[in-house]
Amino acid sequence: MKKLATVLLSVLVIMLFATGALAVKANAAPAKITVDAAAKKQPAVTFDHAAHGKLTKCETCHHTQKGLAGTSADEVKKCSSCHLTPEKAETPKISEMSMTKNPYHISCIKCHKDSKNAKAPTKCVDCHKK
Ligand code: HEC
Ligand code: HEC
Ligand code: HEC
Ligand code: HEC
Repeated sequence: MKKLATVLLSVLVIMLFATGALAVKANAAPAKITVDAAAKKQPAVTFDHAAHGKLTKCETCHHTQKGLAGTSADEVKKCSSCHLTPEKAETPKISEMSMTKNPYHISCIKCHKDSKNAKAPTKCVDCHKK
């Protein structure tokens, strides 16, 4: 009787996994991302997040969190949670137009320039598409 119960329980667990009910939320990183938390003067910026995840480590961008690959979305902090209204005045702000005071301008454009890849945008209109 105990054995049968164990078998039935195992079957149930396998079925739940197969239907995704118990599936671990691995690699929940979105494929495409639109960054628009501050968009006022310029149109929102959309980029291929999955492709960037293959170009470099997650923590190159998500610099406050190590070992992100395979974790679920709710464990990943948005840049905007710290960079929209930063605690310290010297922390870069995503509402800044300046190339040296906006965290995205600092990190995204630096890598694009360094990559010398023609498909990596450095002009305003190539990121802020109308
Ligand atoms: C590599 C992509 C990229 C390039 C190139 C770029 N930006 Fe941005 N910029 C961003 C991202 C991402 C944000 C954050 C947008 C948000 O959070 O709404 C941003 C934010 C801004 C903001 C503040 C948000 C707003 O809409 O008011 C301004 C202003 C801005 N950029 C102006 C510029 C100007 C001017 C240039 C060209 C000299 C430029 N950007 C080039 C990616 C880029
Ligand atoms: C080129 C920079 C970059 C790389 C590399 C990158 N991300 Fe992101 N990721 C972003 C940006 C920008 C956002 C949007 C944050 C925001 O809206 O404030 C984001 C958002 C996310 C979100 C959604 C967070 C939310 O609550 O909406 C998850 C999950 C995530 N990233 C996981 C990952 C994982 C896992 C990796 C590595 C496999 C990775 N990212 C690599 C830049 C990057
Ligand atoms: C938990 C809060 C937090 C999160 C989330 C966060 N940052 Fe930051 N970031 C900071 C603080 C604080 C600083 C300034 C102090 C420092 O350099 O650590 C900073 C600094 C930076 C800098 C400046 C580094 C330099 O060399 O000048 C860049 C660029 C940056 N962040 C980009 C990002 C991007 C892109 C994301 C999202 C993918 C992100 N940050 C998420 C808190 C955060
Ligand atoms: C590690 C270097 C690196 C970083 C950091 C990086 N990029 Fe890129 N990005 C590239 C390269 C290389 C390409 C060209 C990819 C190809 O060959 O198609 C690219 C292409 C792009 C493109 C055009 C293709 C697409 O994805 O839609 C956009 C838009 C873009 N990046 C936005 C961003 C934004 C916004 C950030 C910051 C949140 C960022 N990138 C950070 C290296 C980087």
